[in-house]
Parts: sequence; C-alpha cells; structure tokens
Amino acid sequence: MIVPMSMIDKLTGRMTLAEKLGQLTMTTSSYAVTGPVIAGDSTDSIRNGTLGNLLNLVGAKHVHEMQRIAVEESRLRIPLLIGFDVIHGHRTIFPVPLAEASTFDPKIWELTARESARETAADGIAMTFAPMVDVSRDLRWGRTVEGPGEDPWLAAEIARAKVRGFQGADLASPESVAATAKHFCAYGPVTGGREYASVDISERTLREVHLPAFAAAVRAGTAAIMPAFTDLAGIPLTAHKALLRDYLRGELGFDGVIVSDYNAIRELIQHGVASNVVEAAVLALKAGVDIDMMAGAYRDGLPEALERGLVTMDEVDECVLRVLRLKERLGLFDDPYRRGSRVEAVEVVTARRRVARDVGGKSLVLVKNSNDALPFRADIRRIAVIGPLADAWREMRGPWAAAGYEEPNVSVLAGLRAALPEAQVVHAEGVAISSADTAGIAAAADLLDDGVEVVVLCLGEAAEMSGEASSRAFPELPGEQRALADAVLERAATNDIPVVATLFCGRPLIVPWLAEKADALVVAWFPGTEAGHAIADVLTGRLSPSGRTPITWPRALGQTPLFYGQRNSGRPENPQDRFTSKYLDSANSPLFPFGFGLTYGRFAYTNLRVSAASATVEDTIEVAVDLTNTGAREAEETIFMFVRDRVASVARPLLELKGVTKIALKPGETGTARLQLAAADLRFLGLDLKPVFEPGEVEILVGPHADPARLTTARVMLQG
Ligand code: BGC
Repeated sequence: MIVPMSMIDKLTGRMTLAEKLGQLTMTTSSYAVTGPVIAGDSTDSIRNGTLGNLLNLVGAKHVHEMQRIAVEESRLRIPLLIGFDVIHGHRTIFPVPLAEASTFDPKIWELTARESARETAADGIAMTFAPMVDVSRDLRWGRTVEGPGEDPWLAAEIARAKVRGFQGADLASPESVAATAKHFCAYGPVTGGREYASVDISERTLREVHLPAFAAAVRAGTAAIMPAFTDLAGIPLTAHKALLRDYLRGELGFDGVIVSDYNAIRELIQHGVASNVVEAAVLALKAGVDIDMMAGAYRDGLPEALERGLVTMDEVDECVLRVLRLKERLGLFDDPYRRGSRVEAVEVVTARRRVARDVGGKSLVLVKNSNDALPFRADIRRIAVIGPLADAWREMRGPWAAAGYEEPNVSVLAGLRAALPEAQVVHAEGVAISSADTAGIAAAADLLDDGVEVVVLCLGEAAEMSGEASSRAFPELPGEQRALADAVLERAATNDIPVVATLFCGRPLIVPWLAEKADALVVAWFPGTEAGHAIADVLTGRLSPSGRTPITWPRALGQTPLFYGQRNSGRPENPQDRFTSKYLDSANSPLFPFGFGLTYGRFAYTNLRVSAASATVEDTIEVAVDLTNTGAREAEETIFMFVRDRVASVARPLLELKGVTKIALKPGETGTARLQLAAADLRFLGLDLKPVFEPGEVEILVGPHADPARLTTARVMLQG
C-alpha cells in the first residue's frame, strides 16, 4: 500500500493521462556533435510533459539543459530522472565486478560504488542501473563478468555494500545516486549459457541461490529494481506478477521503483505472452513495472488498455506515485541541478585513480607461482612482455566502460615500464586477440634471447567478448593465442626463462594447459583504468596478491555448471567404482576451486575452535583459527568459513559459505582470525520451502578456499 506524500499526491491529481504516461517512460539519448539527441523522441516530449525520464545522457551541462526544459518549460515542471549504467566506474573505470568480487572485501565494494556515485552525480546523473547481482554458475554466459560470481552469500554481501555505496546515507545528497539492483532474477542460469535464453530452475534453487542478493539489496534500501529480460519457466520476468508483486512488493516489502530492461515490455510479444503492445503493457503494469525503458509500450498501449478496462487509472497512478516519490527522495524537486553543479577538484579525481590502482591490484588472482617466479627480483634488468593484451589499454577497461575517460589508461607494458625504469622492457604482440594470422609468432619468440630474465605473457579475451550478448560456446583463448603461447613457452623452456602468464578475461577460461605449463599464472580479469600499474604492483612485489576467484574454474567445458555448493548425491565420486557420479574422461575436481588464490606468503592453519559445543537459534557462535605465515614475505590471507549439515530433512550442499575474513601477517608471525556465525543463519528452506532451524550437528569448515581437503572442521550441535 502506497502512502502518498501530499505534494506528490496533489501533483498526480493535476496530471493528464499523457503526462502520467510520460512519467512512466524512459528514453535513451545519444550524442550528436552538437549535443544530446533523444532517440525516437525529442526535447518537445520533455517540454510537453510526455517524457519524464532519460538514460544514457552524460555531462552536467547536457543534463542541466534537459532539466531546464523539464522544470522551466513543461506545464507541471516535474524534473527528469536521468539514469546511466555505471557498472564498474563512470569516468574512472574500476575493475570489472567479477574482479572486484575477487577481493572479498565489503569495504572495497562500498568504496568503489561511493566513488562511482560521486563521479556519476558530478556528471548530473541521479540514478545508476547497478548493482548487477545475478549469480552465475555458467561461464559461457557473458554477463558473468558483470556480477558477483557463483555464490549466493557473496552476492548478497556485494548487493548490500553496493547499495550503501551508491546511495550513501542520504539519497538526496548531491553525491548520491539511486541504485538499481538487477536483473531480477535468475538471469544467470540461461539455457546453455546462451544470452537471453529461457531459464527453468526449481523454486528451491531460485530461493536459495538467486533471490538472496535481491532480498539483501531491498533490505539495504535499493531505490530501484530491474527485472531480467528472460523468462522463468515460461513467465517473462517483466510480466512476472508472482515474483514482482507477491514476492518483491509483498514478501520483501519493496516500495521503490521497478524499471523495465531495455525494450523488455515490447519483447513480451516475442516471448509469446502478448499479441500486441496493448497486451504487453497490461501484463507489465499488472506485474508492477513502473517505468518502461525504451519500449514506448506504456505510452502506446495503456490509453487503449484503460479505455477497454484492462487496467485501472488507480493502477497507473500507483506507478506514477512511485516514480515521483523517487524523484522527491533524490531531491530533484527541491533542486534539479543539485548534481553536477560543482566540478570535482583535481585532488578528488587523483585520489580516485589511486583507489582504482589499489583495487585493481587487490582484485588480481594469483593461481600459480612455481619456484617463486613472482615477484620479480629487485635487480631485474630485462623483461619480454608478449601477447595481444600487453599493450591494449582499451581492453583493460572491460566491457562496460561507457563514459570512461580515454586517457591516461595504462597498459601492462606502460605499467611495467613505469615501475621498472632501470629495466629494459622488450615487447611484441605476436598475434592479434582473435585473428588467424600467425605471422608475428616467430618474431615474438625470438625476443627470448639470453638476456631476458622473465617473460610476461599477456593473453585473453577482448573486453567485448564478455558482457551483454557475449555468450561463448568455446570459452578458451580466442584466435591463435594458443599457438603464440606454445611457441613462447617452448622457447622459454629451452632458454630456461620463467613465464608469467597474465590472463585477461570476463569469465573463467578453459586453459588447463596454460596452468600446467606457465611458471606463474595471474588472473587479471579486466582491472580498469589503472590496469598496468596495478599489475606491475603485484608482479614487482610492491603489493602482495590477495585476490580469490569468486567462481570455480573448470578443467573442461563439459563440467559446466561446476560450482562448489553442489550436493553429495547418492553415489558420490569414487574412483574405484564406475557407478558413481563422475566423468569417464575428466576428473570432477575443478582446475581452481571457488576462493582459490595464492599470496606471496604461506599460511598454516591450526587450532580451529568454536565458542560453544551447542547453540540455539538465538546464539552467535564465535569461530577462531590461528594462522602462521611460514613464507618469506608479508601477505594477507583470506579465510573462508563454510558450513555443512550432513543430515537434514532436505539434502544440503556439500559446503555453504557463511563468512570471510582476512589477516595480514609478516613472515614467521602468528595471528588469530575470528569469525562470527549467527545460528539463525543455519536455517534453511525445509520441505515446504519455509525456513527451518533443525536440531542436530552442523560442521563448520574453515580454510583458504572451497577444496574440502584444505578445510579444518569444528562441530556444533544445534538445539531446537
Ligand atoms: C541491459 C541492462 C542495462 C540497460 C540500459 C540493457 O540492455 O540488459 O543491464 O541497464 O540495457 O543500458
């Protein structure tokens, strides 16, 4: 039930139908040389009140120009709501979300969202279509890069931190923007990993895996939610009354704005649930979608729907109220120019770049480091930097750098040259990212002469190979990169030169051969504006790596979906018994498990203990473990706390993540990592899909990642 604010209530009472539908419509603008052009609309639509919201408009000057038309020339002077996709930074591009997830650090997630919000707001924009919190367990799906990875607990933590960061303490602040949690929901398990394809999962998986992040975003106060393009078992999310109205608005009490995805309302026709735009508009409105992004379906379809009694004016008004209320919460009625009225100080921008560099470094995941190939020795004098991603600053920014600054972006080559002014850094591209031309391979291998002390081999995907509409059936190194790598690895082996492979990608790639042959392997994802500096920081040892993969890396694509939270089955893998759950031609185990990542230290875990042997649902269990850095360098270890309930009314996953903490230790130093586990978080969805707290033993497993062999176990008896 909406309790309208009086000013807004009165305003709604004065609006014509066309003006109301204008408030429910969002249209894109794009740039002509002379300024913003509004696709399919014109500034006249703003002037006559039939367009209330815009997306893809950047630059405070342009935003204010449009606002001025709305608040000075339109009849009701309602300010515009202007949104933009700020997925991993606005002007300063931070690491892609999957990379940021690798930091397992809520302070970082919140900080980059806060910095993005300040930068976005400085551009006059009041809303972002982020965070994207879709859990992905299928690396074929290109949008894996935009999200939190495979785990529901992690996704929820990220959702919370991001909403806090974007919205700050006060949504009306000139430095805050409205967050949009997207894409609601279960977009990740698209059939075959194919973009936009149908989704069909159990209600249990929906509730256990895909909804928690949205629930967390709602509890954190997200201003908006965007339904996914996809359908869930035949019901497109844009028209999903049960999930939008009953669950989101009903169960979770979400009273913010639901904004459709791009043209999604009209696509209900393609989905096969509406035969024309009138029916499409009715379905979306009835489901509770407030803003129609880019379909023009509300403006085209609702007048007839109202005439025919298919929807009521009350239903339309309910949406209008929600949109106006958001504009009010954003402070737009008080001062539509509050965002973008001050140019950010140079120091603010410079400090933000330092954040990008720091987070870039912390999001790198070191997955192999044989014979301490990394970090480089301090006296290193000659390095070969080879591969198509070595001098590719544009790719470093990743797939969603829409308004990102063009300059100065830092390639790996530039970063290493800056970090090692005394060293000679030789470079060859070898091959392009995805071309059949192998002509440059021999010359690249020829760089590996006697004087070269280490090879940095920069391989991977182009930025545009992940993100929206970027599913891949062969998620391997594209083009002739493997031929380049083979040639370089062979020559390096002959000349006894260590090879540090650096992999740029928006998803795990299937590269077991590279993991086997390279001396060191760094998963860099796409680190953003400061990529080269961030990578140089880690390779030179200025920063000790601490990133952990938030998604399992399979050995073979045929293992997909491979994730740590699977169930045991009735016939768990047994190498001695054919009739157990396994492949004939691949191990079940991943190439790198969830949470995997090395540091420059070495950590021994001892003395895991819990505060009590038993717990009731009200209790909080204190968990502690001692760690000693037995390595030669200071490093920060990430400690994971999983639980396992071996006997329950519904079979539980082998492991469930419940907490993460970090500890930095010097060589030889011992410290204690402490975690808290609320017993209430051990509830799960019972036979009737309602939360239950079942008495019995629960295991608490603590360690460096999700490989059960590396975890130590404590036990707690739950009491009803
Ligand atoms: C994407 C959304 C995005 C929207 C607006 C769509 O194609 O699915 O994630 O927010 O475009 O740019």
